[in-house]
Amino acid sequence: MIRKVRKAVFPVAGLGTRFLPATKASPKEMLPIVDKPLIQYAAEEAVAAGIETLIFVTGRTKRAIEDHFDKAYELETELGGRGKEQLLSMVSNVVPDHVDCVFVRQREALGLGHAVLTARAVVGDEPFAVLLADDMVDDDADGVLSQMVTRFEEHHCSILGVERVPEDQTDKYGIVKASAFADRLSTIDQIVEKPKPAVAPSNLAVVGRYILTPGIFDLLTRTRRGAGNEIQLTDAIADLLNEEQVLAYEFEGRRFDCGSKLGYLIATVEYGLKHAELGEEFKSYLRDQLKALISRSDAA
Ligand code: G1P
Repeated sequence: MIRKVRKAVFPVAGLGTRFLPATKASPKEMLPIVDKPLIQYAAEEAVAAGIETLIFVTGRTKRAIEDHFDKAYELETELGGRGKEQLLSMVSNVVPDHVDCVFVRQREALGLGHAVLTARAVVGDEPFAVLLADDMVDDDADGVLSQMVTRFEEHHCSILGVERVPEDQTDKYGIVKASAFADRLSTIDQIVEKPKPAVAPSNLAVVGRYILTPGIFDLLTRTRRGAGNEIQLTDAIADLLNEEQVLAYEFEGRRFDCGSKLGYLIATVEYGLKHAELGEEFKSYLRDQLKALISRSDAA
């Protein structure tokens, strides 16, 4: 087995119902945080972790993602002609030259497990990463995947990115029961998809970052529909636990759940505040708004 993580799978065929009507005709992964679409943040995180092949598992209404990672001849000619060099370099270097983008079509949205299985022929017999673009993590460094690749190179087994969530929210996540053995690392004993708080084995939740060994594919072919009547990646990982060690890694950084409107808004504010061009102006706008809000609530 190849021991380096060179490929990353981006399941992007989901319907994005929580953001309708914005996502009626365009993918939720193209929603921008300030000026970059969610999928580009995820792709940049993968590239920073050393990934060389980005595999997008797409579906209907996802053409915009293919176009985003493709050359935009007309736009580039136009920007070049107008001498807009900075913008030109921004649109023509969405991913570096040594990185390949592959698009695989998931014909039916049967769940995350099914999406990952759809990428099998492109991944082949090697470890690979899975990134869910609506989970954004800011670690002020190279990103969570890079942290996980470092751990993979030490342990050579599947690793899931996890964080503690409020106990009443376990039914939004894959939840693990794990035994800690090193800083931020534990061995997973059990994993369950979206358990109700009363039966959840812990509050350690899987967020959208996985490094998986290729053994997961055979298991996925046998995985039956689970929570939400979908073929769940979590259920195949539960089977993988019977065959291989799987680790949970409590990443460094702050996660934004951009799959929810509130999480998306919070990420927009936080990235807006850090933005090189807009940060200062935005901060003073927020300061004024906050002052007005406080004086209104004092008066009430
Ligand atoms: C998916 C996974 C779940 C994981 C979550 C992280 O759920 O099935 O195990 O915890 O992503 O965001 P979804 O949010 O797609 O329902």
